[in-house]
This record gives sequence, structure tokens and C-alpha cells, in this order.
Amino acid sequence: MAYSEKVLDHYENPRNVGAFAKDEAGVGTGMVGAPACGDVMKLQIKVNGQGVIEDAKFKTYGCGSAIASSSLVTEWVKGKSLDEALDIKNTAIAEELALPPVKIHCSILAEDAIKAAVADYRKHQEAKGE
Ligand code: FES
Ligand code: FES
Repeated sequence: MAYSEKVLDHYENPRNVGAFAKDEAGVGTGMVGAPACGDVMKLQIKVNGQGVIEDAKFKTYGCGSAIASSSLVTEWVKGKSLDEALDIKNTAIAEELALPPVKIHCSILAEDAIKAAVADYRKHQEAKGE
């Protein structure tokens, strides 16, 4: 399969690879798997006191499209509020990366990972009673 230039760019120079400590203040961790292929994506956000995502990191065990999708969304979420981050649609990811139909689930993985990271962050905030 031919990957688009943007997929190759993110695949060869992935942005924001890495991890925060799970218990670090303001960190939310989303871990999702794709039943279709068994790939796994871990995506983390770091939220500041104003509720803005100031940093994001990912680790993806998966295909080039999954790596590119997660790399792209870590760029997109920076500077966004949580609600804005939840608005990121897999269709926008797929369009930006020109993913073919068989690779759409890779972009869904990235959307799900963001949602999971936001949910995890909110759960921690509630636990702290903030
Ligand atoms: Fe799993 Fe893409 S099918 S790597
Ligand atoms: Fe399964 Fe890309 S995440 S093929």
C-alpha cells in the first residue's frame, strides 16, 4: 500500500513520542486497542491550571497510519481546551493524512485515544475533589 506524503512524514519524524508519569499532576492517559488489527495506542495529555492542554505525548505499537494519526493529534490538541480536544473527529485526521478506506480505523484509534485521555484526566480531577 502506498502511504501519503503526510503519513510518511509523521511516520519518519513522529512528533511528541514519549510518556509522562501517569501520576504526574494534570496528566490524563488514554490507552486503546484496535480490534481489527491488534494495534495499541497510548496517548497522554498534560493539562494546565486553566484547563488548557499544554503538552501531549504518545506511544503507538502499530502501523504507519496509526503512528501518523497519533503524532498528528498530539500536535492538534496542544493549546486546546478539553472540550475542543473532544471535538477532534477521526474524519478530520483521515482527511489530513489522506488515509485510504482500509486505514480509517487507524484514525478512529487516535480519536478514541484522545477521548480516553480526557476521561482519565477528568476522573483524576474528580477524585481529588477539584
Ligand atoms: Fe496492525 Fe496495521 S494492521 S499494524
Ligand atoms: Fe490497525 Fe492501522 S491501526 S492497521
